[in-house]
Amino acid sequence: MAVSTEQQLLQRIAVLESALAKRASEAADKEHQLERYAADLRETFKEERARAQELRQSYMLTVRALASAVEARDAYTGRHAERVAAYGLKLADAYGMRLGDDPAIEFGFLLHDAGKVAVPDAILFKPGPLTSAERLIIEQHPITGSEIVRDIDFLGAARDVIRHHHERWDGTGYPDKLAGDAIPVSARIFAVADALDALTTNRPYRRASTIAQARVIILQAVGTHFDPSVVEAFKKLSDEEIERIRLRIG
Ligand SMILES: [Fe+2]
Repeated sequence: MAVSTEQQLLQRIAVLESALAKRASEAADKEHQLERYAADLRETFKEERARAQELRQSYMLTVRALASAVEARDAYTGRHAERVAAYGLKLADAYGMRLGDDPAIEFGFLLHDAGKVAVPDAILFKPGPLTSAERLIIEQHPITGSEIVRDIDFLGAARDVIRHHHERWDGTGYPDKLAGDAIPVSARIFAVADALDALTTNRPYRRASTIAQARVIILQAVGTHFDPSVVEAFKKLSDEEIERIRLRIG
């Protein structure tokens, strides 16, 4: 009787061991399957990231091509949009704006004057003072620009820069006469970057200012033309940083 009970126990143990072995084998299969899924997901993620980078690169090339087309008309401004975009990005960084992975703000800096395509040469390059009717046409360019890019979704916040890059902190700018914080911050940053570039490049009617002279002129317009907090950020940029951008872009 004792032997039989022992045999039964041994048989039972053997059955349990066999069941455990089967479970272990199934678990190992599942683990391999999960590893394969994880590898597939990693591969898909890598491919998606590469595709997103390609797309972003295409967007950037398209935007640069458009910006060059806008600038090609004006021999004096040269690579103004490229320089303004570089100053603007530095300034945004000093301001603490986290541009992160969103390139839309840079697109806006590059395309700010897209609406100038609709301004006739005779007005855009008129050497003398503009009549009030001509000034109205010039002041239309942020509206025209924002209409041109209205349906281009990937431009996102770039549209704010295009529409509002001539607004002034005190509300006397155009086209919407926005004042203070009502002006999108990207446009407030752009305004300082734009002034810096305009002042430090030669124009047909005046010689370029030095960076030191440009700083004085920008500081004089704090609270009227420019957002005081953006000008504070501008003070953090060194002359060397500004000069590096000028030399790199030319
Ligand atoms: Fe403009």
